[in-house]
Parts: sequence; structure tokens; C-alpha cells
Amino acid sequence: MDFQNVIYEKREHASIITINKPDRLNALSIAVLDELGKALDMAESDADIAGVVITGSGEKAFVAGADISELSKLDVLTARVFAERGQSIFNRIEKFGKPVIAAVNGYALGGGSELAWACHMRIACSAAKFGQPEVGLGLIPGYGGTQRLTRLAGRGFATQIIVTGEQFDANTARDLGLVNKVVEQSELISESLKLVEQVHKRAPFAVRLALQAIDASVQLPQDEGMKVEAQLFSLCCGTADQKEGTSAFLEKRKPVWKGN
Ligand code: COA
Repeated sequence: MDFQNVIYEKREHASIITINKPDRLNALSIAVLDELGKALDMAESDADIAGVVITGSGEKAFVAGADISELSKLDVLTARVFAERGQSIFNRIEKFGKPVIAAVNGYALGGGSELAWACHMRIACSAAKFGQPEVGLGLIPGYGGTQRLTRLAGRGFATQIIVTGEQFDANTARDLGLVNKVVEQSELISESLKLVEQVHKRAPFAVRLALQAIDASVQLPQDEGMKVEAQLFSLCCGTADQKEGTSAFLEKRKPVWKGN
């Protein structure tokens, strides 16, 4: 597919989606979001792909937010559609059937932080900067930031980040539990790919169901989440891969996954 705003590449068992508008610090225009959705379709339908890495082009920015020139034109009616469009693509990432890793290579501000929060895991380079500067534009986060950041960092830190609009660095993000690992810029993609290759060794259907069960833990009360976990656990036991995984362990050999 011919993309204008993102680069889609396959590296071993990973799809790398690079937001590619470096002259605007990879700001998320509507066109960028649309192409991000199409790139995710490609990763989803490709059985060789075990995980997705989302990053930004260049060394300065992951994504410096929604496109402020688009934000400036919104009114009460169009803003709702705008927020819901962004939320829908970020919800899709959160519910994606393969792990999605944000490889945060620089500024992740506003919609850029929200994109990172929607991914399943985040690896940041040491120069990365996070922040929710929307209140400084007379706005609040509209792509899920108030909801996801609060769940990830807790109400106190989320409030501090959102109402001050202050930027914070990668180590602070790691200390708050927002980032899995901080690495040098040169290692960012290789570290992310390493994670995907580890996932590729595991049963793909089980990985998909594990992601669903984890998602239930943030969407549902714990008792309901437990029911979902038990249902998904039992679904695993109807798969060829569960028979293969357990037999391979008992026979002291490596499993050969069928994906069902
Ligand atoms: N939307 C649209 N354009 C953006 C943008 C955004 N979110 N972020 C950066 N750009 C553009 C700038 O307007 C500039 O364009 P120009 O070269 O045509 O003037 C270009 O990207 C480079 O940005 P610049 O501000 O010159 O870089 P900097 O190094 O001085 O500052 C930032 C970097 C990230 C601190 C600064 O760009 C910034 O604050 N961006 C907006 C962040 C934000 O508020 N995001 C939340 C939106 S909800």
C-alpha cells in the first residue's frame, strides 16, 4: 500500500509503523490517523507478524501531539467527532490481538503521549519527553488521555501531569510505571524487536487471549474480570496449541505452534 504519512515495514516477525511527518514533529493529523489504521489492518491480517512497534520518524519526536492547525478550527460539534475518531483508533490499538509497543524516540506530547498510553508496552529512549500540554491550549486530552493515564499512573500523578501540562523525562515516566524500559536512542528499535521475537516463540492464540484478559482487568470490576479470565483460560484448552505446548514440555522438546 502507498502511504504518505506513515512507513510500514516488516522486520522478522514485527511490523514497524513509523509516523512520518518529521517537519511537523510527526503531529497526528486526521490523515496520519487514517493511515495508522490501515497499517494496523496490514499487521493484523499478516499471520507472520507477532507484534507491532509504533515509532516516530527522526530523532526529535515520537509524536508532538494532535495537529494544532486542525485543533484550532474545531467547534463544539466537530470537536466531538474529532475526539471520537482519535479515541476509536487508540481503542483499536489497546484491543489489538498482537502486542503493540510504543518505541518512544523523542517528544511524546498530547496525542503522542495518548498514543503511547494506548499501546500495550512502552520503551523510551533516554531523551524522550512526555507530557499532556492540552490545558495550555485551552483544551483537555481528547484521545483517551484522562482515562488511560489515570489507570496507568493513578489519580494523583495523572492529575498533576494533566493540570500542570508540564513535560517529564523518560526516567520519571519509568519511575511512574508508564514506561517498561529506558534505553539509548540507538537501541530503541532493537530492544522493541527483541520483545516481539520473545512473543513470537509463544502460542499466538494464547497471546491474543492473554491480551484480552489483561484488557478486561482495566475495563471491568475484578469479579467480572475473573469470569472473563476463566472463560478465556478454558478456550485455550480447546486449542491444538495447548495440547502441543503441554506435550512438548512433558516430552522435553520445543513446541511447534499451529496458531489454533
Ligand atoms: N501540531 C502541528 N504542528 C506542530 C506540532 C503540532 N502538535 N508540534 C510541532 N509542530 C510544528 C511546528 O509548528 C513547527 O512547524 P514550522 O517549522 O512550520 O514552524 C515544527 O513542527 C517544528 O516544531 P518547533 O516548535 O519549531 O520545534 P521546537 O524544537 O522549537 O519545539 C516542541 C518542540 C515539541 C516543544 C514544540 O513543537 C511544541 O510544543 N509542540 C506542540 C506540542 C503540543 O502542545 N502538543 C499537544 C497538542 S494537543
